[in-house]
This record gives sequence, structure tokens and C-alpha cells, in this order.
Amino acid sequence: DSIKVFAPGTVANVACGFDVIGLALDAPGDEMIIRRSEVPGVRISAVHGADLPLEASRNVAGVAVQALLQKLEDPKAGFEIEIFKNIHPGSGIGSSAASSAGAVVGVNLLLGEPFSRKQLVRFAMEGERLASGAAHADNVAPAILGGFTLVRSYRPLDITALHTPKDLWVTVIHPQIEVKTSDAREILKQKVLMTDAIRQWGNVGALVAGLYQENYDLISRSLEDVIVEPIRSILIPAFHELKLRCKEAGALGGGISGSGPSVFMLSKGEESARKVADTMNQVYAPLGVDYKIYVSQIN
Ligand code: HSE
Repeated sequence: DSIKVFAPGTVANVACGFDVIGLALDAPGDEMIIRRSEVPGVRISAVHGADLPLEASRNVAGVAVQALLQKLEDPKAGFEIEIFKNIHPGSGIGSSAASSAGAVVGVNLLLGEPFSRKQLVRFAMEGERLASGAAHADNVAPAILGGFTLVRSYRPLDITALHTPKDLWVTVIHPQIEVKTSDAREILKQKVLMTDAIRQWGNVGALVAGLYQENYDLISRSLEDVIVEPIRSILIPAFHELKLRCKEAGALGGGISGSGPSVFMLSKGEESARKVADTMNQVYAPLGVDYKIYVSQIN
């Protein structure tokens, strides 16, 4: 009784959608092998590719599965998880979310799917709470449901999948510097100006409309964040130049991926997304910072 799971990377905070809009990538993604075990509870047998705790209560996958098992109320259920990390922790492309989401999806499948995908989001959020101190859902929801997702409300939790235009591609650059989500949350202001709020919710509504209408111009105009990006962008080398040059190269727009340091840009079509990747290279190559670039469809 075992299963192999692919857990995709995700882009949270899609521009104006801080903590509410996320999207799932084709790549990179983690892989995990989950086996049923005679020993009740959850055990992390190994983590390959990253230095992460094996103790279940300190591992995001372990904590997410513990939340699921608590709800299941079957004292005999036991699982062993082996994790192959391809998404770098602290990259801003949902590394902890991939582990949490993949683990609960895999365990649920081995159990015969007692929980719906939306219920699984709730369990995976416990992994996010451990990783960042905040149980945000804008990475785990797209990792579990796929495509674009929207968190309408956290209390009560109300999540919906959004339409994903077929020709929408994403280019992500991951500068190899570390930005901790908890630190990137700490620097945010707790109050926003009414004028900024109006602009932000106008953009969120229009982004959702743009996705449904497959209206790339409207999507492009809506990819603006006047609340979080001005504060967090100081943590990312050459952020403004990067964004400007990518837009000149044809990107629809973009912003900080999750809490950074990764930056994402959306494009119409693969060709445009690859051109944006070339531009990212041109901007970053002279900086002397190591980086990786991913081009992906949204799935
Ligand atoms: N919405 C979260 C934040 C995502 O920005 O803090 C973290 O990846």
C-alpha cells in the first residue's frame, strides 16, 4: 500500500491578491512516496534535497497529516512519508505548501478519499502555520485544487477554484537569497489607506473577471499591488528594473511570488513567457546573485 505524489510549486499573492489569490505551476514540484504503516500516526522516513526536520511535529508534512488523522478518528491509521524536495525552502514558490499539500492528498487517497479536496486545504494549512506562523491558504489551495484559486474568507474558510485561461503562462525567477515568510510578514503595516484599499479591491475583482473572460488586457491592467509590494520589494535585488524590463519584453505583469525572493511574470503564450525568461536573465546575470528561472503553464 503505497503511493507516489507530485506536489507542484505555487505562486501565492498573485499581485493584488495578497493572502487570497494563488496559482499552481507545472514545475518545479516535489515528489513524495507515502506508505501505509503498522505503526499508528505519521513518520517522516527521509527528506532528500533539503535539510528539514524528520520529527513529525516539526515537519510541515507531518503536522498536516497529524491534523488529518485527528479528524479521521481512526487510532490505527499509520503512514510513512519519504520526501524528495525540488522546491527550495524559502524560495517563495510554495515549498512548505507542496510538502503539506502533497502529504494530505496522498494519505487521503490511500484512505479511500474520506475527505474532499477542500477539506484537505484546512489540514495542509496547519503545515503553513508551522512554517510561517500564519495559516495562510494561498499556496496550499492551488497546490491541492490546481489552477488559480481564491480564498474569499479565512473565517469561515471559503475557498473557490477560478477559471484558468489556457494560454496563460508564468515565468518565475528565484534569486538564491533567503527571505523568511515570517520576516516578510513582520514588516507589513497592519493598516491600509482607504484610497489604496479601493484600488486593490478594484484590481482583485478585475483580475478574476479577466481570468473568466480570458481577457489578457484586463488581466494585465489588474496585476498591480499598491499595498504589499511597495514594502516587500525592498528585499529583492533589482525588483523594479526586473518588472519594468519584463513588461517591455511583453509580459502582462507580475509581482513578488509569495513572500519572495522569487518574482513571477504572467504572459500570453509560451513564446512570450520564454522571452520574459531571457529578459530576466539579462537583468540578473550582471548582479552576481545566483538564480534559477522556471517557465511553466498554469495547471
Ligand atoms: N500569502 C503569504 C505571504 C504567502 O505573503 O505571507 C507566503 O508564501
